[in-house]
Amino acid sequence: MPDKLTLINITKTFPHFSLKVSLAVKDGEFFSLLGPSGSGKTTLLHIIGGFVAPDNGRILKNEIDITYLPADKRNIGIVFQDYALFPYLTVYGNIAFGLKIKKGISKKEIDRKVREVAETFGIAKILNKYPDMISGGEKQRTALARAIIVKPDVLLMDEPLSSLDAKIREKLMDELKKFHKEFGVTIIYVTHDQNEAMFLSDRVALINNGQIDQISTPLELYEHPKTPFARSFIGKMNVLHIQGKTIYVREENVKIKKSGKYRGIVEKIFYQGSTAEIFINTDFGTVKALDFLRNIRQLKIGQSVYFDFEEVLNGNS
Ligand SMILES: Nc1ncnc2c1ncn2[C@@H]1O[C@H](COP(=O)(O)OP(=O)(O)O)[C@@H](O)[C@H]1O
Ligand SMILES: [Mg+2]
Repeated sequence: MPDKLTLINITKTFPHFSLKVSLAVKDGEFFSLLGPSGSGKTTLLHIIGGFVAPDNGRILKNEIDITYLPADKRNIGIVFQDYALFPYLTVYGNIAFGLKIKKGISKKEIDRKVREVAETFGIAKILNKYPDMISGGEKQRTALARAIIVKPDVLLMDEPLSSLDAKIREKLMDELKKFHKEFGVTIIYVTHDQNEAMFLSDRVALINNGQIDQISTPLELYEHPKTPFARSFIGKMNVLHIQGKTIYVREENVKIKKSGKYRGIVEKIFYQGSTAEIFINTDFGTVKALDFLRNIRQLKIGQSVYFDFEEVLNGNS
């Protein structure tokens, strides 16, 4: 299958930051750019969308060079991080906007399409409201409806759920996944949240300091992180120095037992609902163990415990 979107040696340099990226996204793929704040995710997304010009490199869409095409000619939709809804237009007006500027589409046809997409995203009842009268989740849905109504080849989304509370975020993640399955649109999704990236994506590109660190499926990224950055960024990892060696152990692979190879003192227990993180003070620093609350009810601060590592990631894993 040919690539839907290809970035070839795209570079962009700011006074204190530089970006250098090559990657290829497949047709219909849900592709995430995952990285910490300041790693260049938004800059890269804006380069793809045509809002920021790269210094060098080429962008291909359906194998055609679009590097110098203006944003409104690319047929690439974008949901901006702050949604960027037009405050002086109603939800209806916001969703209809892209169709209205397209010319040649009748009012009746626009109306039918707006109502259809509003139905899909559960916002049919708020079409007459203005953006300042609706909730964060509704704004998110409106921005998505506005981007999707023109049937873009590629949909870009910049941290679309980051300003929403946990419950609504979970619901929208679910909806987004269903929406992607149903419509099959190619999505490039920017997030700093690994859970979102893991749940939603076909593939994840880990980005660090303006460079792609690793591109793989979510499972592959979790089980076989290839670089020191991937190892420390994905999951909850202990980076330990024992007998002159650096080893990586996921917190869920530290098992507290009646007897074991290592020993330490329980320093702190950080409860997180159904799970808890146990900080164990050892000769080689603090080791964190993650376990279900029901398994560690008896533990007390100051108590001496034994533990083992169930699985260790080394440099080549
Ligand atoms: N227009 C600009 N001028 C100068 N520096 C910029 C500009 N846009 C972004 N940057 C810098 O580029 C880096 C990456 O920013 P950004 O792409 O917004 O990262 P992210 O979205 O991953 O948080 C940051 O250090 C930011 O300060
Ligand atoms: Mg950003």
